[in-house]
Amino acid sequence: MPDIKGKKVLITAGPTHEPIDPVRFIGNHSSGKMGIAIAEEALAIGAEVTLICGPSNVKSSSKIKRINVQSAQNMFDAVMQLQETQDVLILSAAVADYRPKIVAENKIKKSDTKLTIELESTPDILASLGQQKRQNQLLVGFALETNNELENAKGKLVKKNCDLLVLNSLQDAGAGFGHDTNKVSILDRHNNIATFELKSKAEVAKDILRTIIAFK
Ligand code: CTP
Repeated sequence: MPDIKGKKVLITAGPTHEPIDPVRFIGNHSSGKMGIAIAEEALAIGAEVTLICGPSNVKSSSKIKRINVQSAQNMFDAVMQLQETQDVLILSAAVADYRPKIVAENKIKKSDTKLTIELESTPDILASLGQQKRQNQLLVGFALETNNELENAKGKLVKKNCDLLVLNSLQDAGAGFGHDTNKVSILDRHNNIATFELKSKAEVAKDILRTIIAFK
């Protein structure tokens, strides 16, 4: 991609909340900071940015078109509505893989017996985009791995038909959820791997966008 100026960039960020009943949900520790940093950097270098963000307290510039969502299904629907017009899709959200199969209409009351909640799969947004990807559309996935990192990440890149995949390491202190710093490696579909140092999420966002622009 020779330049990102004027290009339409869609970014997913943050966690998703999967409702159990009107007051409870299944969530995760994602803060949204990494995805929002990418959105801010894409805006700074001239892209037209849409941010589809799960529940997060992190603010974003008013020049970013932000769509706030709750569940994986909400995020899927919002992405699918816009995907066709986008040049670059960056999926940094920590989407829940499972959700309660039945959402209780009323608050579940405590009882002496154990409670079992049956879960079902959520739609995989990245995999769906990979299946529908059109020519000249660039798809960037994220992977958070704790073991066999590179091997798993490569498998994910191929399976979900990504052009680039950002591998997040949880092995390093200061990297990952909630922190202001992160350490990533970026793999591409031609088998190139670039490994970066621990740095601020704003700097990591610059590395990710530089890699997208340099990708052929
Ligand atoms: N992702 C998505 N929709 C989902 C689950 C994940 O779009 N329902 C995206 C994430 O935003 C990320 C990538 O898929 O870009 C990888 O997510 P991850 O949870 O690491 O991979 P999974 O395929 O869910 O595999 P696993 O949890 O088994 O490692």
